[in-house]
Amino acid sequence: GTPESFYDAVGGEATFTRIVARFYAEVERDEVLRPMYPEPELAAAEERLRLFLIQYWGGPHTYSDQRGHPRLRMRHNPFTIGPIERDAWLRCMRIAVDEERLPEQQRTQLWQYLEMAANSMMNSWV
Ligand code: HEM
Repeated sequence: GTPESFYDAVGGEATFTRIVARFYAEVERDEVLRPMYPEPELAAAEERLRLFLIQYWGGPHTYSDQRGHPRLRMRHNPFTIGPIERDAWLRCMRIAVDEERLPEQQRTQLWQYLEMAANSMMNSWV
């Protein structure tokens, strides 16, 4: 059969749901990130990131069914993302990923992607 996706290997939807929920619990009380979010509630943003990561790692394509091509750099253009914002984002995500207690190889694979993606989202160097 087809090789198991990373999505399946780490536990599927439940794993990504927990990581993204933990991430947004941290964003909620982060003084750099919280003011950047245009909507008063974080629930919709949480759902978009959750569906994006599920799709990226080989799960259902619900993200693109709802939002089209990710074009993540373009979608982040309205927000100034410099080193401070990038570091704040990675700080929140690090907590979320570490709490998941994935096997080391999976944790490293996920983390390397997230670090690379956060760096690639930068559009300011101050
Ligand atoms: C959307 C901030 C990195 C994935 C957003 C939004 C903000 C934001 C303020 C708008 C919230 C909303 O959806 O209404 C940041 C900051 C980052 C960062 C400060 C620091 C580097 C990333 C990374 C990823 C990501 C690394 C993916 C791995 C997304 C997705 C959306 C989003 C999927 C929703 C896009 C859409 O469908 O409209 N981000 N982000 N972000 N971000 Fe980020």
